[in-house]
Amino acid sequence: MSAPLAKASVEKLKSYKPNFGKTIKKNLIRLSANESALGTSLDAVKVLNEYASNLNRYPPQVSEDLINSIANRYSLNKNKIILGNGSDELISIIAQAFLEPENEAIHTEYGFLQFPQAISITGAKAVVAKDINFTVSVDNILGRINKKTKLIFLANPNNPTGTYIPKDEVIRLHTSIPSNVILVYDAAYSEYIKNDLYIDGSELVDKFKNVIMLRTFSKLHGLASLRLGWGYCSEDILNSLMKVRGPFSVNIAAILAGTAAIEDIKFQEKSFQHNKTWMKWLKNEIQLLKLDFQPSITNFLLVQFPETSDHNAEKAETFLAERGILVRGMKVYGLPNHLRISIGNETENKILVRELKNFLENNHEY
Ligand SMILES: Cc1ncc(COP(=O)(O)O)c(C=O)c1O
Repeated sequence: MSAPLAKASVEKLKSYKPNFGKTIKKNLIRLSANESALGTSLDAVKVLNEYASNLNRYPPQVSEDLINSIANRYSLNKNKIILGNGSDELISIIAQAFLEPENEAIHTEYGFLQFPQAISITGAKAVVAKDINFTVSVDNILGRINKKTKLIFLANPNNPTGTYIPKDEVIRLHTSIPSNVILVYDAAYSEYIKNDLYIDGSELVDKFKNVIMLRTFSKLHGLASLRLGWGYCSEDILNSLMKVRGPFSVNIAAILAGTAAIEDIKFQEKSFQHNKTWMKWLKNEIQLLKLDFQPSITNFLLVQFPETSDHNAEKAETFLAERGILVRGMKVYGLPNHLRISIGNETENKILVRELKNFLENNHEY
């Protein structure tokens, strides 16, 4: 007898599969998940060690301390901050809270894969707005809005392309959408950006009730394993989301380490500078290898490989994996000729480029 089926909207989905390699090798160079190249703030590690004997208690449902630290760090209104078990959880509960099966939600062509996944689970229709030159097109998003549209998911900058749309385009998008449509503005990589043309979305949240900004501790703050994200939105939206979110979804380790990490400005600055330096270096090296890439402002690069069978993206991914270097194949995003490569530490970056050179300059047996 087979097990009962899940609802139809779930049965037809594929589960999300990251590339973490088939074996757990300690010395793997993992450049496949856009994680922090410099590990974690030592302040966060210290606070975790100190708390390890107190694990029998439930965490607070809402951590005032962490929320206050986030509000202070980014000069935000603490009443508008919601914490989640990674921004992934917030993406899911936004979809669950706002989408009925007869609704539509828009996501961009090469947008983050969790968006269509979260939309489809609710039974609502995921509507694709085509990108132009691997960049979000505001006109194409606006062209997909109709009476059924409830949400627009926009990652800016976007994963996996690394590209972004400037402030005036974000404002044009927001001013052109009906007030009953919510713009979910995912700024997961905003900590890597110091550029006046960019906005992280918080000023829109401060002015308007139909915007949710999403942020994560998984990237610059180096806490991906603890699962900690946060959202910034009107108190009305926040109250709706809290009805859907699990009461204790953010665990105590995430709360304590997150609070320490957000207050560790030195680690954040060091991570920012590291990324700036090595992104510049990697772009230059990839150019010398005569490979094309998108102009990323994040901590990863979307690199295009020739379609020729000898040196295509799939073979490059295998070649690198055999040498212990994991990068992210992009077939699942509909980009079979691309690989997404995260910035690693100095040694990792140099080994990556050495092996890419080796791959491109020689013919290898498979
Ligand atoms: C655009 C974007 N949003 C959200 C996430 C998920 O972040 P978290 O680890 O907080 O769930 C990622 C992770 O790669 C991402 O690239």
